[in-house]
Amino acid sequence: MKGVLLAGGTGSRLHPLTLVTNKHLLPVHDRPMIHYPIETLRGMGIREVLVILGGRSIGDIVELLADGRDHGLDLTYRYQRGALGIAHAIGLARDFVGSDPFCVVLGDNILVGEPLEPVARAFAEGPWGGGTLLTRVPDPQRFGVAELDADGRVIGFEEKPAHPKSDSIPIGVYFLRPDAFSVIDRLVPSGRGELEITDLLNHYIANGGLFTRHYDGAWHDAGTIDSLLEASVLVARRSGGPAEPPR
Ligand code: G1P
Repeated sequence: MKGVLLAGGTGSRLHPLTLVTNKHLLPVHDRPMIHYPIETLRGMGIREVLVILGGRSIGDIVELLADGRDHGLDLTYRYQRGALGIAHAIGLARDFVGSDPFCVVLGDNILVGEPLEPVARAFAEGPWGGGTLLTRVPDPQRFGVAELDADGRVIGFEEKPAHPKSDSIPIGVYFLRPDAFSVIDRLVPSGRGELEITDLLNHYIANGGLFTRHYDGAWHDAGTIDSLLEASVLVARRSGGPAEPPR
């Protein structure tokens, strides 16, 4: 399986922290944010990773990660022009992926705990077309949101709905195969002008091939001022660091 790490976007929800730097370089507890998704992919047993860059200071990201050897990875880079959405960024991985299944991780998603190698292997060896990991959050309207049937099966995803149909959200870990690229080619931009990952996932529901697992570890995004702090606190707690943020 190959890996794709999405580190584009403008980081506008983190202004002024991201006015002159890339959000993926900001600290989450004791490391730059991008070290966490790197570790998530490495923990799946993945070695070849494409990093998709965008926004400011991308040279600093390349300087930080270099060829990936220090993380046990072999890294390649591509540039995403404009913030055209997660599904658009995934589309840039077509040549890199070739004929392999692949896992996409968002650069601002912090996962701590559950080893994901068995999950990645289950997807790669199984019949599913594409999928994601789910977790429950108190503020689902900030994310993609799953609609569930009476048996708890996902029957649809909505991106940042005003009235969420559940508190289950797809976190920024997606399992895909190369046929995702032809689906992405047919997606149309949403109201905010982006190719939405939830529309790609909905394709697999409509075609009976969606893979989902509940993520049993601890998860946080780090793309807003509050969630950046909360992600740091989560990691600090898990690593035996300070239990509370400084007041
Ligand atoms: C993105 C996805 C959303 C997902 C979230 C996880 O949202 O669009 O479906 O739930 O990542 O972090 P973003 O927060 O990047 O706007």
